[in-house]
Amino acid sequence: LHVQAAISAKREGRTLTEESVRRLVHDFVDGRIADHQMSAWLATVACTGMDLSETAALALAYVDTGKRLQLGNPARPVVDKHSTGGVGDKATLIVVPVVAACGVPVVKLSGRGLGYAGGTVDKLESVPGLRLALDADELRSVAAQAGMVIAGQSDDLAPGDAVTYSLRDVTATVESIPLIAASIISKKLAVGADRVVLDVKYGDGALIADYDAAAELARTMVGLGGRLGLRCEAMLTDMTQPMGRAVGNALEIKEALAVLGGEHVRGVSETCALLSRVMLQSALPELSDEAADERVAEAISSGAALEQFLRWAELQGADRACLEDPGLLPAARDVTEVRADRDGWIHEVSARRIGGAGLRVGAGRISADAPLDHGAGILVNHRIGDHVTAGTVLAEIHHNGGDVRPAVDEVTQAFVIRDQQCTPPLAVRDRIR
Ligand code: URA
Repeated sequence: LHVQAAISAKREGRTLTEESVRRLVHDFVDGRIADHQMSAWLATVACTGMDLSETAALALAYVDTGKRLQLGNPARPVVDKHSTGGVGDKATLIVVPVVAACGVPVVKLSGRGLGYAGGTVDKLESVPGLRLALDADELRSVAAQAGMVIAGQSDDLAPGDAVTYSLRDVTATVESIPLIAASIISKKLAVGADRVVLDVKYGDGALIADYDAAAELARTMVGLGGRLGLRCEAMLTDMTQPMGRAVGNALEIKEALAVLGGEHVRGVSETCALLSRVMLQSALPELSDEAADERVAEAISSGAALEQFLRWAELQGADRACLEDPGLLPAARDVTEVRADRDGWIHEVSARRIGGAGLRVGAGRISADAPLDHGAGILVNHRIGDHVTAGTVLAEIHHNGGDVRPAVDEVTQAFVIRDQQCTPPLAVRDRIR
């Protein structure tokens, strides 16, 4: 009767004990609680919330269902970053090698994409040979040799979160601040990160669109990390429009390689420079903003960050030639342009719609086991605040045949062009520590 009691306690606004939350998670993982019972509990929590003690108990219970790694030490802390996900978000591919090239080890376990938001593992799988499924020993070995590792979420780290997440995904209980916070922080604890920088997105392409709710999620995760001995900081970053130009797997790898090679890409370079600064400072707290920025700029201009990425990727099996000549990466056969039908200033480039267009040409998946087209995607040429004239190419749809009209419609509707001038949104709106 424990699960029924836990459901009614949450319905009546009572606080669960640590032991009660722990038992619930372990009983669910061990098959003593059915999916429908756990779903009822999750749905109740999604409606009535949980306080920080319950959220902490949930995070720890997830961690205790699996292994816990320890990759860093007090003298050489390991930094991790986590994005709540978005459209065209290739920040991991850029900031992890930049920070590692500055001498700070980074360990990053990433996920696959689902729906309109992409996943880093899918993007990296467009690189021939690159292996993302690493066990704990391989994680340790790559981290030690390369100073960085990016890998898929390992099955033995916080498996309680993975099974609960699958249930949340199909019961509309993902969008709950305490459930998201416990899920994310449990994975950071399990991988043994010493410091975490959280990239919390807001805007229509984000997990939580509303700015105030995203800020609350950021504060909850920073507070939860602190309570559990994990130093976290959060950045609130813009996802009202896609991040940068490329949306789609190989297209995003190419854009990340260009940024690492020194190209300035609007919407990517600024956000990644700030994320890199905050990650460096989380490991080296005495570093001023100016000194951190200088190191980041130097890592890129000297070629060290790009070389760091290539060396790491090769260690995990990548064909280096494809990264040195991105023309060898998967590419779509056809390109369909979408043009402006009037003059004016761009007021909106809906990230959700651009992500939806990517999904329609196969760059994303609608169910967990659906195949992906690594070459397909969208290149967005213009951003909020740009002035365009009728006929300007707003975006290119890269696809491999089939009916491209639904994607064209989505991209067309993503753009709102008006007569009045428009100020672009800030790439990073706040920093919470
Ligand atoms: N990402 C996670 O890892 N967990 C959530 O609950 C939501 C986003």
